[in-house]
Amino acid sequence: MRQHPIRAFMLRRRAGIAFVLATLLLAVPSVETFGQEDLVERGSEIAARECSRCHAVTQVGGSPHNKAPPFRDLPRKYPVEHLAESLAEGIVVGHNDMPEFLFEPDDIEALLAYISGLARQPQ
Ligand code: HEC
Repeated sequence: MRQHPIRAFMLRRRAGIAFVLATLLLAVPSVETFGQEDLVERGSEIAARECSRCHAVTQVGGSPHNKAPPFRDLPRKYPVEHLAESLAEGIVVGHNDMPEFLFEPDDIEALLAYISGLARQPQ
């Protein structure tokens, strides 16, 4: 029995949608596993670009600005959630030497992933 053309069309379209959904579902886990390293990588780039002028942003060395705490010491002094908050609001420390930054949530996540990674490694 031949299918009605409209019905055949609907079936094809449904298969198309299912295919797109399946592709999306398959893509999500791989994005996530790949995401963490990516995030840290991006965080390290932001730190190097925006912060390394004043802060030590790696495992070694002192900060170029003598009052700026090395990033590897930050998680010991501040809970990470507190840092996230200050970054989101634009870090305003009671200090003129620290410029105000405003970050997108993605960038904050990246920076924090990088900073907490620094602290976890043995020094
Ligand atoms: C021009 C110099 C300069 C730059 C650039 C800079 N900082 Fe700072 N930062 C400072 C100084 C100085 C302090 C210490 C302020 C104080 O103790 O009063 C500080 C303190 C901090 C603190 C401690 C927060 C607090 O409340 O005391 C954090 C977190 C921080 N900086 C994050 C960053 C991040 C993230 C970047 C890059 C996006 C950055 N800083 C870029 C100079 C800088």
